[in-house]
Amino acid sequence: MSVSAKQLKTDFLIIGSGAAGLLAASRLAPHGRVMLVNKDTFQDSSTWYAQGGIAGVSSGKDSIESHVRDTLVAGAGLCHEDVVRAIVCHGTEIIEELIEIGTMFDRKGGALHLTREGGHSSRRIAHAKDATGQAISKALLSQVTPHANIQRLEQHAAIDLITSRRLGHTDNNRCLGAYILNPDGNVLTIAAKQTILATGGAGKVYLYTSNPHAASGDGIAMAWRAGCSVMNLEFIQFHPTCLFHQQGSNMLLSEALRGEGAYLVDHHGRRFMFDYDEQGELAPRDIVARAIDHEMKKQGADCMYLDARPLGKAAIVDHFRNIHARLLELGLDMTAEPVPVVPAAHYLCGGIRANVHGRTDIAGLYAIGETAGTGLHGANRLASNSLLECLVMAD
Ligand code: FAD
Ligand code: SIN
Repeated sequence: MSVSAKQLKTDFLIIGSGAAGLLAASRLAPHGRVMLVNKDTFQDSSTWYAQGGIAGVSSGKDSIESHVRDTLVAGAGLCHEDVVRAIVCHGTEIIEELIEIGTMFDRKGGALHLTREGGHSSRRIAHAKDATGQAISKALLSQVTPHANIQRLEQHAAIDLITSRRLGHTDNNRCLGAYILNPDGNVLTIAAKQTILATGGAGKVYLYTSNPHAASGDGIAMAWRAGCSVMNLEFIQFHPTCLFHQQGSNMLLSEALRGEGAYLVDHHGRRFMFDYDEQGELAPRDIVARAIDHEMKKQGADCMYLDARPLGKAAIVDHFRNIHARLLELGLDMTAEPVPVVPAAHYLCGGIRANVHGRTDIAGLYAIGETAGTGLHGANRLASNSLLECLVMAD
């Protein structure tokens, strides 16, 4: 929908409609009018593209303590342990709520089917085949679309925040809303009691990235210009296994493939990950990405290969049906041959400095999800902790 008035008012302005923005909208709607904007469509978000799943302790063989430990190890000593504990302990209830609102996670024998990814010492990742983000987005959207208190504005790009200091007031700086460019090319002034940045990451500043177009770091730039501090922006996570393809496709090949038994090999078919880490292909992602990069440079190769054949055709076609189908469209059959892969920019571990509730340095301004830097991830995010962080922060 497009709006014509150039000055609008709302109680809560939420910029971004991935997991963080969608859950925040449904939580805030009972308390006032919500305006939910995104710069393209509801499908153009990292959330929509998430493959592997969402981490949470859902099995009796696992424990919160173990999830905390794995997160701290992956973060290379730079996580904020209090934040790790505050987020990880909500995994089970978030997954249960997602199920209640209709997320069709995979099940086996009545229980959740939990998959595994690098750096996790247990199977603890709930997933919907290899398209978990779509399943979660659809469930969250179903809570937002019929709501009378939520106005949804697609193709509305936030261009800057309005703050009291910018308007000439010298006392405490406060966020008063944002300027938004509508599809007709007009700039709307939206006044809001509270503004929530849920604008995702910044992968698109790299040429090779798994991220969608929306991920250009807009929220971080706006918050910085308004006077917020930012943190850990140097910690860009590279996903080890993005497709290497002549036509430039950077599609992700989920880490869950390695969790279920896929290997990394060079062009001679030699498995090399155990030269780098005793966990082999299931070492934390920064170690695996660096190992692939090192082998490529050492061997003068354009890529390494992910061999999923050990999983067997039936498991590939069942669990990884979307990846399998997309590769077939590109002429690659992962049930029959190793697939060429390279690391690509995937996730921003830092962001706008915020606490677990999204509070920033500026009154009236919140940052939630990937755009926020809480300290959960330290120098390197543990796989599948991101969707969890988005939803805990938005709660
Ligand atoms: P996003 O989902 O990225 O949403 C950002 C929103 O902000 C979009 O709606 C966009 O339009 C909007 N926006 C941006 N700038 C503006 C602007 N200027 N004006 C208006 N709107 C704006 N994590 C996991 O935990 N598990 C996984 O399995 C997983 N798989 C992934 C697979 C891929 C391919 C990718 C790219 C990421 C994956 N991640 C995964 C990471 C995770 O998906 C993201 O960190 C998470 O979804 C971010 O959610 P978000 O709500 O913060 O932002
Ligand atoms: C993947 O499925 O490999 C992505 C998981 C993540 O980024 O957490």
